[in-house]
Amino acid sequence: MKPFPVYPLFDLTPVSAEGSYLYDAAGNAFLDLYGGHAVISIGHSHPHFVRRVREQLEHIAFYSNSVQMPLQEQLAERLGTLSGYPDYSWFMVSTGAEANENALKLASFASGRKQVLCFTGGWHGRTSAAVSVTDDAPIVAPINAQHAITRAPLNDLEALRAAFAQSGSQFAAAIVEGIQGVAGVIEPTPAFLQELRRLCTEHGVALILDEVQSGAGRTGRYFAHQWAGIRPDLITLAKGIGNGFPVAGLMIAPHFEARHGLLGTTFGGAHLAAAAALAVAEVMAQDDLMAHAARLGEQWMAALRALPGVVEVRGRGLMIGVQLEGPVAPLRNRMLAAHRVLIGSAGQKHTFRLLPALNLSANDAERFTDLLKTELSRAASVPAASVVA
Ligand SMILES: Cc1ncc(COP(=O)(O)O)c(C=O)c1O
Repeated sequence: MKPFPVYPLFDLTPVSAEGSYLYDAAGNAFLDLYGGHAVISIGHSHPHFVRRVREQLEHIAFYSNSVQMPLQEQLAERLGTLSGYPDYSWFMVSTGAEANENALKLASFASGRKQVLCFTGGWHGRTSAAVSVTDDAPIVAPINAQHAITRAPLNDLEALRAAFAQSGSQFAAAIVEGIQGVAGVIEPTPAFLQELRRLCTEHGVALILDEVQSGAGRTGRYFAHQWAGIRPDLITLAKGIGNGFPVAGLMIAPHFEARHGLLGTTFGGAHLAAAAALAVAEVMAQDDLMAHAARLGEQWMAALRALPGVVEVRGRGLMIGVQLEGPVAPLRNRMLAAHRVLIGSAGQKHTFRLLPALNLSANDAERFTDLLKTELSRAASVPAASVVA
């Protein structure tokens, strides 16, 4: 048997990793500015993370949600404080799609409705309801296309009001990313999020903020939506909260009522997962990583904006999208092959994403800026057809 080949793979086989670097078997170091899709938040193999996970493994790795789970309670307490949502509840799952699926389900249970409002460019995962609200037609199978959804243009206040005027009483939920990641780091404006919040409240609709990519401190605040000063009813988290361990969850506003069996999972929130997420939260607080991400991100984006050939730099903190004049695929390939640097692509083909560990050093950020400058001037000085793809 072989792996089902659904992924285009880089010619890179990492065998170890530390901080912001991956290493291959020959000992070559690769600067990781992508973190495996925004997952690595406190750095690869962080010593506190390794110690806590190892110690947990030596005691008990797993038991299902049928016994007392003090680690889950400790994590809920920590994340509540760290994020500014101490009055919300915490339900743990294993992936971002599962978190969104459960948020949509909870909104539907609570309201008795099934229609969902979603937005152009939104990306919420590959399970059934989550993929149906995702704006990426090739990954929606016929079996996923049965959900009742309304898709409105992001950041269009008139269209938003019109969608609520037409179907507000049928919406169970509205789902939006704190900052759209896969689309190419596109930010909902504060005015758009505030109006969405107002309309959801007026029509009894649960507002779900998908912070799977933009959350866990990446933008310099715990959640990207906090820059707009709103409070959602449900917030989904994954990726960065586990630093590579598959952990995800949803924060649930106090007005939702739980009953036994309403939601469930075998793996979510078991001992190892909770210990991994606790280790991440501890390092984030202790090393003040959100402040570092905010500071470094601002400096880095200013430096990137000043480069000739850069059309636009979008984002906040260490969630950065850089738009170039042409497709970024040749640049990504050269960054890896010639400079051993990993950067991310985006749905928008002229944009690459920088989603490094939140404790990336200023030196590494500068090194990348210098490399980008060299590559952009090199591309500008040779005919387009001869740029190595
Ligand atoms: C905003 C957002 N939501 C949900 C998901 C799905 O997460 P997962 O792949 O863990 O299911 C992703 C994955 O990239 C994402 O970026």
